[in-house]
Amino acid sequence: MSEKIGLCCDHAGFNLKERLKRMLEVEGYEYVDYGTNSTDSCDYPDFAHPLGQAIDRGELARGIAVCGTGNGIGMTLNKHQRVRAALCWNDEIATLAREHNDANILVLPGRFMSEETAARLVNIFLHTAFEGGRHERRVRKIPLQAAPAEEGSAR
Ligand code: RB5
Repeated sequence: MSEKIGLCCDHAGFNLKERLKRMLEVEGYEYVDYGTNSTDSCDYPDFAHPLGQAIDRGELARGIAVCGTGNGIGMTLNKHQRVRAALCWNDEIATLAREHNDANILVLPGRFMSEETAARLVNIFLHTAFEGGRHERRVRKIPLQAAPAEEGSAR
């Protein structure tokens, strides 16, 4: 498998991110870890923006992000035009985030989720396809700016 999964977290998400790295390794996924790299207090935007930029530049297609609640890191990631970061806390939300929203970053609340649940949601995120159809039209309307490939096209 050649696709790399982007990872980021803050101090509150560090332990879960490390656990998920082991899981990805066991399952044969490669990853790019944008930090943080310890449980020392830090600011989640410093680690979320590099992952968002990698998605915007097309260097990565998918990512996983963890902070305490999932909210701060998800808010930051969603400032990036090509990011669709979805805060997920159960199987159905994670499934629908892929099927309906084509989420490209799974956001997890590290202080409010067991490792077992998180591992299950990562599997759902990685293996559930986007349904397309009417959802494609909606997802296309999310960005505020045209994607770079579309900028030169006639309007
Ligand atoms: C850190 O204490 C906490 O505020 C952060 O991990 C996150 O929950 C913010 O949204």
